[in-house]
Amino acid sequence: MTGPGLAWGWHYAAVRPTHYRIDYAINPFMNPADQPHPDRALEQWEVMVATLRALGARVDVLEQRADSPDMVYAMNLGLALGAGPAGPARTVLSRMRYAERRRERLAAGPWFADNGFTVGDLPGVLGEDHGPAFEAGDAFAFGDALVVGYGPRTEESSLGLLAEELDARVRGLRITHPGMYHLDLAFCPLDERRAIVCPDAFDAPSAAAVLDLVPEVLVIDEAEAMTFCANSVVLGDTIVMPAAPPKVRAQLEEWGFRVVLLDLGELHKGGGSVRCLTNPLDVVPGRDLPLVPGGELLLPADEEQPAA
Ligand code: ARG
Repeated sequence: MTGPGLAWGWHYAAVRPTHYRIDYAINPFMNPADQPHPDRALEQWEVMVATLRALGARVDVLEQRADSPDMVYAMNLGLALGAGPAGPARTVLSRMRYAERRRERLAAGPWFADNGFTVGDLPGVLGEDHGPAFEAGDAFAFGDALVVGYGPRTEESSLGLLAEELDARVRGLRITHPGMYHLDLAFCPLDERRAIVCPDAFDAPSAAAVLDLVPEVLVIDEAEAMTFCANSVVLGDTIVMPAAPPKVRAQLEEWGFRVVLLDLGELHKGGGSVRCLTNPLDVVPGRDLPLVPGGELLLPADEEQPAA
């Protein structure tokens, strides 16, 4: 790939929205009194998949469980890692914060296994039937680390486990904004040096840390983030987005990206857009994520300690 873009993000899993409803509210966008129109939702999703495929992506489709209305947000099925120098393809299944989404793994596990992934889980049951939450929408390979948001969904105690499990450096960012409950609503890697970032999603040390992490940053404010513009997918020099506020579009175009807009209004009713609806399967440890044997966890608070 020449020009801007990422090495990964050319192969996705997505879940066809055949049982997509708003049965409960686990984020501020969801309102059971405002149901998506089933045919329009399916049509918007079909256009999204066709658009990604036309741009060169491979999109594999899972069927939705009838008892899991949020399963359409495939990003959260698990953290998939493609085959490479670190070994064969594998996935760390999400451990959903809310019981309402915990049946999704009953479909995700077998699907990943059938598609050549070794299916894994974070260790540590912590005295209950469900260990500390980890939702894959909170995790992105960027720079020298797996950047992981925690707070609303992923629990801080998962971060060290993840670092160990993946032999990776994990950089935690504490999310405090209720509307940006997953990292993928506030952080969008564009290429090796650039990302869209909404600092308002984080507490002060984490906002400073994320701005530090990204050499060239496209900062968006809270109102811009609420358009889901950070919940976008990058394919080479093309960024597939649900909205492009003027300042965001201008900066992207200045950097050489082409913006393709999608109408995903029905899918937004559950609180997610293009990124949430797709799960990248081709992030390769050793290529996109440096190998750090034994793992390493870095939290903004640790870095703030004055030098001895
Ligand atoms: N209703 C889903 C939830 O609250 C939306 C998930 C959005 N996905 C994402 N990767 N941010 O869990």
